[in-house]
Amino acid sequence: MSSKSARLLLLTLTLGLMSPAVLAFLWSSSPKDLLKPTDAKIVSKGQQVYDMSCAACHGSKLQGQFNWRTRDAQGYLPAPPHDPSGHTWHHPSEQLFNMVKFGIQHYAGADYKSHMPKFERALTDEQIVAVLSYIKSTWPKDIQAKHDQLNQQARSQTK
Ligand code: HEC
Repeated sequence: MSSKSARLLLLTLTLGLMSPAVLAFLWSSSPKDLLKPTDAKIVSKGQQVYDMSCAACHGSKLQGQFNWRTRDAQGYLPAPPHDPSGHTWHHPSEQLFNMVKFGIQHYAGADYKSHMPKFERALTDEQIVAVLSYIKSTWPKDIQAKHDQLNQQARSQTK
């Protein structure tokens, strides 16, 4: 066997041995995401912020409120889950950041009725990034990877 084909064989074997989890990890540690779900320090700060400021509505296990898709008699939606059963992960990081900082009205219009507070004054930008990093860190690797992909698409659209 030539040394070239030996190297090729070695490369194929190495890639073949990498588990999907490792590949997903390499993919999700893309430096361009505003969120840092693999940074243990940021994630643990974010968990504290979550427990203090979000868990009352979104649930201590990120499970959301009962019947979260159905508006109540006054037209308000219950708090949705932040686990993979919700649609938090369908929004690029920047949108999530803006919703937490400026409220849902930032996208839905000033007249939109929502119980979701805006955290512009209550939380710093770093705390908002931390809490969203914590939320993202709880998603399975494949959902995190899909979210990274979404961010990439969002970035290429704004260029
Ligand atoms: C007083 C209850 C309440 C608190 C506290 C709260 N939320 Fe919400 N949140 C809601 C409700 C209700 C919605 C649904 C928004 C709507 O009316 O359309 C929501 C929606 C969201 C969304 C949009 C989800 C999506 O899929 O579109 C994000 C992101 C979010 N909240 C993050 C947070 C974070 C992070 C915190 C803590 C810093 C927090 N929320 C605290 C009630 C709350």
